[in-house]
Amino acid sequence: MNKKNIFSTVKLINYYKFINYNLIYNNKAINRYKKDNFEISGNKAEKLIKLKKSILSLNNCDLKKHGKNIVFSDGNPNSKIMLIGEAPGANEDAEGLPFVGRAGALLDKMLAAIDLDRNKVYISNIINYRPPDNRRPTNEEIRRYLPFITKHIEIINPKVLVLLGSTAMNALIGNDVVISKMRGKWIEKQFGNCKTSVIITFHPAFLMRQPAQKKMAWIDLKMIRDKKI
Ligand code: URA
Repeated sequence: MNKKNIFSTVKLINYYKFINYNLIYNNKAINRYKKDNFEISGNKAEKLIKLKKSILSLNNCDLKKHGKNIVFSDGNPNSKIMLIGEAPGANEDAEGLPFVGRAGALLDKMLAAIDLDRNKVYISNIINYRPPDNRRPTNEEIRRYLPFITKHIEIINPKVLVLLGSTAMNALIGNDVVISKMRGKWIEKQFGNCKTSVIITFHPAFLMRQPAQKKMAWIDLKMIRDKKI
């Protein structure tokens, strides 16, 4: 090797060291968010506070920059039934609570039909900040918030998990399923240490657009009502 080549090889090695050459020689995907398996200690109330704080401390999130408030949850954290929607809309963003707009009013009616209300269930969303113009969250946004909602489920430890709509279903069950085939069935799932019976039903906003589907949602609601928990 001549002097010029040695010089450029040394320069290259120094450059690799500078940019952390493990990233180049290691073929594992880089986890930019580093939240996939985070541990939270304490009792349930303490864990929920810590989880909310870790979402509040998320960096470089455009949703968070545009949203007014974090929308973390509503209802009874000791309930055996947890409901998960998609993401907050304008009303939820303004009040910092999930399902307080028109879709929320329908959700309240659906719950009342099976003798439930917000004090008897616990409600959250896949995404904790409002997507601009109420657009659907992107796959990237869902990936980013997934570790938080998974941890949220684990902390609440519900016996029954109700997924409202296809965004919640695809995020937590998988992308290779369609709601028309998945709704109205019990699916046993584990989220961290939480083993739970999952049921998928239509999102109330969808039911407002497609009222003919309410009869299917009613079948799902009766399954929840009749579940022995
Ligand atoms: N739609 C949702 O999915 N979640 C809310 O909180 C409100 C509307």
